[in-house]
Amino acid sequence: MTSSRNSFNSKIGIILATAGSAVGLGNIWRFPYLVGNNGGAAFLLIYIACIFLLGIPGMIAEFIVGRYGKANAVKAYQNFSGSKAWSLVGALGVLTSIIILGFYAVVAGWCIQFLYASIVGELQGNVYVIQDYFALISANPFLSVFNALLVLLLTHIVITRGVRRGIERASKIFMPILLVLLVILVVASISLPDSMKGVDFLFNPDFSTVNGNTILEALGQAFFSLSLGTACLCTYASYFKPSVSLLKTASQTALIDTIIALLAGLIIFPAAFSVGVDAGSGPSLVFITIPNVFQQAFSAVPLVGRLMSILFYLLLILAALTSTISMHEIGTAFFHEQFRWSRQRGAMFETLICAVLAVVSALSVGACPNLKVMGMSAMNFFDSLTAQTLLPLGALLTFFLVGWFASRKVVEQEFIGGSPLLKKIFPVFLFVVRYACPLSILLIFLHQLEVI
Ligand code: TRP
Repeated sequence: MTSSRNSFNSKIGIILATAGSAVGLGNIWRFPYLVGNNGGAAFLLIYIACIFLLGIPGMIAEFIVGRYGKANAVKAYQNFSGSKAWSLVGALGVLTSIIILGFYAVVAGWCIQFLYASIVGELQGNVYVIQDYFALISANPFLSVFNALLVLLLTHIVITRGVRRGIERASKIFMPILLVLLVILVVASISLPDSMKGVDFLFNPDFSTVNGNTILEALGQAFFSLSLGTACLCTYASYFKPSVSLLKTASQTALIDTIIALLAGLIIFPAAFSVGVDAGSGPSLVFITIPNVFQQAFSAVPLVGRLMSILFYLLLILAALTSTISMHEIGTAFFHEQFRWSRQRGAMFETLICAVLAVVSALSVGACPNLKVMGMSAMNFFDSLTAQTLLPLGALLTFFLVGWFASRKVVEQEFIGGSPLLKKIFPVFLFVVRYACPLSILLIFLHQLEVI
């Protein structure tokens, strides 16, 4: 079975596919609205600490399980640990990724709607007009469900065309273009009047806004943004070649991911403060802020603004798709290999479950506000259940496995891969994975449960 598995073609393909999974709506939609809800720069600092102190070691730990395990999430955890019990961590990952994909498709669907609106020229007018437009389309059951299902369909098509051709090629072409466009938009946004208040909000910390919940939100966002904690990286690493340096891949991905999130922040906050959008507007923040950047910054040449807007939503949808593809692949590989179904059938099953969750999510924030779980809209519930509980839990268990239960020799060999430099770093990695990372996550959890 293992010999027939696909593997990623080239080194750059690996970085780009992993970065393609990491970079998505997490950076451009979720990160800015959480920064806005949690008071700005202080959240940003905690977030960056989480990325580098917990995120990079966590990514490496998941890579180790996947590359050694060489199989779908469940089987990889089993192969790596030599015990069936640990395969439950993989199963938890499959479940988590299905829930995330369900609501993620809805947000990606809103992007499709905004792409359509910028093509036909519907995104004209002041902040209030755009705010109303967002409220209207998210409350329209037909539009929001249709767009979310379209996202799942597109993901399904790429997934059934195979790992290498689909994922690698798409990532290679689109990621660099997105980066360039974001830089242009940062300049455009900062050139708006009063934009410096937004820059100040993003970079001037006020720690009085920080509480236990802020830290858990930052941690959850760091894991969400790195695609960590659902065996997504484990599944991708099962396609890595032995020569790939896991530390390097993890660091490069984390760096790219953080840069993109910062650029998104530098587009959204200057613009939000300039046009008077509340930074704490929540999930609608990006959608109501960005159209103003295009209109105002390019008011002298509206056609340029419009073309840039079309390009922006197009790239955002593509970035979202490289992420949905990575989430979809977890379940598809699992159903295909574990149940011995064809890949087509595995993918179809995954798509159908996600479609049900997507419909529930879409309706819960629009047409059916009484679709609530624990007092939250179903969509918010799925979001906080995964980001604040299941992802940190998945990562915590992986730290335990790699740090304490796995064969030290295997971990060492996967980490070092013949490099003398990595041999020197290995004891540090082992210490972090054994003590620092699991303890930090445990403390954050216990604090949230009000035990400490
Ligand atoms: N990281 C992606 C983003 O920022 C989302 C994502 C892709 C993800 N695969 C994942 C999140 C696996 C958690 C787990 O948009």
